[in-house]
Amino acid sequence: MKQIIIQFGGTGDLAQKKLYPAYENLQEEGYEFTLIALGRRFSTKEEFLNTMVRPGASRTFIDSLDYLQYDMSDEKGATDLLSSHLSLLVQEGEDVSIIYYMALQPSLYEDAIRQIQIVDGVISKKVKLAKKIVVEKPFGFDSETARRYNNILLKAFSDEEIYRVDHYLGKEFMQNLLLLRFHNDIIRMIWDNRSIDSIQIIFDETHGVDQRLGFYEKIGVVRDTIQNHILQIITYLTMSDPTTLTPEDISAEKAKVLRAISPPEEFYTGRYESLGAGSGHIVNTPTYAALKLSVNNYYMADIPIYIRTGKMQKEAKSLIYVKFKNKTQKVMNDSQIEDNSVIITIHPELTIDIVMNLKEPKTSWKSKPVRFRFNQAETYGANTPEAYEQIVQKILKGDKSLFPSMSEICESWRIVEPMLTEESHMEVYPIRTLPRFADEIAQKNGFTWFA
Ligand code: BG6
Repeated sequence: MKQIIIQFGGTGDLAQKKLYPAYENLQEEGYEFTLIALGRRFSTKEEFLNTMVRPGASRTFIDSLDYLQYDMSDEKGATDLLSSHLSLLVQEGEDVSIIYYMALQPSLYEDAIRQIQIVDGVISKKVKLAKKIVVEKPFGFDSETARRYNNILLKAFSDEEIYRVDHYLGKEFMQNLLLLRFHNDIIRMIWDNRSIDSIQIIFDETHGVDQRLGFYEKIGVVRDTIQNHILQIITYLTMSDPTTLTPEDISAEKAKVLRAISPPEEFYTGRYESLGAGSGHIVNTPTYAALKLSVNNYYMADIPIYIRTGKMQKEAKSLIYVKFKNKTQKVMNDSQIEDNSVIITIHPELTIDIVMNLKEPKTSWKSKPVRFRFNQAETYGANTPEAYEQIVQKILKGDKSLFPSMSEICESWRIVEPMLTEESHMEVYPIRTLPRFADEIAQKNGFTWFA
């Protein structure tokens, strides 16, 4: 079957930084498809290539790529151009699969869908057409808009044909989380509220948002990473075992666990001091947040999950810290005995540590924590595929295992919704410092951030 990717938003940041490199690598691996990049910015393919494609990109990639200057506001001109271009690429009666990749502001979905319907109408007269549509996170601005956008997509696509991207699901550490939990009996046996004391999720980034201010100021940290990446991590950490590792079974368990999460009662947001400096207007959008959640089911209830994430921090750090209950301190009457824990570090490198207490040499019955470490790069080399490569590969194959379902997305909006209305209480923090509320939430709940 001939595969064609039509890249809406083909001259944007996401396409340039993530998608084009992913497409190129996939072609190197033998995937065959034609790419049509749509955008307003450049008038010729040469100009497009000079700016958007890395110097030295493979010949195969460049030859398989077309650029069309596409002005969405001129519907007739745009759809005529796209349909006649597509007609040249396909043969009468052949099987063709078109992937519409929408790297677009959701406010443009309605126009895009109308245009896709027109183009489909022309092409399906000539070929046997299968189609898919890909949309990016955050899907909507809240539950209501997510449903509205979904209804727009459903005018031209079935749910099966809609791929809602959260690129974290394409990351190796995420897939490892599921296998760590469900392919290891010793872990499975201790992964519940009988053994786990608390969980911390820390995602600190050093960069700010100024190159993406236009997008980010409408979004903020809650919509940008908590509603999607962080809640997806929580589903993988807390869901029950899926009957099989098929997309449907995984998704059913994820939706169940999300339904068991209430909106946070404790949360704080802040923005870094220089946010939007030079933009000529005040930007009051949260860039950092800390919150506490819990999953109210038999296995996970009473395990507090503390989350802290945001921009312009001193050090880039991404990790999950799972702390186990420490009965040994009491039984052995020794408060020096450390907690057991599992630490999944995502950045700066992917490692999984299991921390245990073992004898310190030259002591009499004194233990010391030691780490049993898995290091992805040392074990398998440093060439783990980028998240977007895994995501696009699944789209090409028609495998939906790495895409959140609409019910997961709606549950996630329900959970974060109270955090979307509290922007007036935002703390303003100097760059490279943690907002004060990160310490406050720790003090109030009697824990110490692991990093
Ligand atoms: C994106 C957010 O989805 O994820 C960015 O829009 C964030 O703000 C990024 O920096 C983090 O992704 P990664 O792959 O760099 O961990």
